[in-house]
Amino acid sequence: METTPARPGGAEVRQASESDLDIIVEQTWQVASEGRWIGAEVPFDRDARRERLASALADDYATVLVACIPGGADGSSMVGHIWVSIAPYGVADIGMLVVEAWRGRGIGRLLLESAIQWAADAGAHKMALEVWPHNEAAIRLYRSAGFVEEGRKVRHYRRRNGDLWDSVLMGRPLTGPS
Ligand SMILES: CC(C)(COP(=O)(O)OP(=O)(O)OC[C@H]1O[C@@H](n2cnc3c(N)ncnc32)[C@H](O)[C@@H]1OP(=O)(O)O)[C@@H](O)C(=O)NCCC(=O)NCCS
Repeated sequence: METTPARPGGAEVRQASESDLDIIVEQTWQVASEGRWIGAEVPFDRDARRERLASALADDYATVLVACIPGGADGSSMVGHIWVSIAPYGVADIGMLVVEAWRGRGIGRLLLESAIQWAADAGAHKMALEVWPHNEAAIRLYRSAGFVEEGRKVRHYRRRNGDLWDSVLMGRPLTGPS
């Protein structure tokens, strides 16, 4: 039997549109400012980031999904997003964030489940991501959604302060072996 994902706070997930991009970039800036969770570091080039998101919206093999809570000045407020991009060899890479005030309430799971569904419908055979080893919340979420650890890049990413960070590679099949 199919289960319906929980909708914390009445959250809805929908495909982003051009008019969402500024807020997505702003929320990415906020999370990047926390300095611990995502690859981006501040300051980054906001226009370049917006352009990359706009290209994803125009691409049949990529998308950005946003989670919105009903209410707010314009009728709903965005509290997180996930981007998905399917490589020509069929693997859907993802990256996601939830704004700090809304974490721990099921929004991340809702976004991830929606992205898995989108990627499967779009024909991907597998999902993949990279996560910092210290990001326990994210790793738990990914494991609980069926991702397994496939390896590690060691002292791979140089941060602005010169530190070299590892990343954990995780994957989740979307189809059986063939
Ligand atoms: C990682 C992130 C997306 C998770 O989203 P979220 O909305 O907070 O997560 P949810 O409330 O949907 O929780 C889903 C699962 O994640 C895990 N989780 C979430 N927060 C956790 C925490 N603080 N500690 C441990 N596990 C946690 C749990 O397994 C949880 O399932 P459970 O509630 O049944 O125990 C969110 O914390 C976030 O945006 N962090 C900053 C950006 C980031 O790390 N992005 C991912 C980069 S790889």
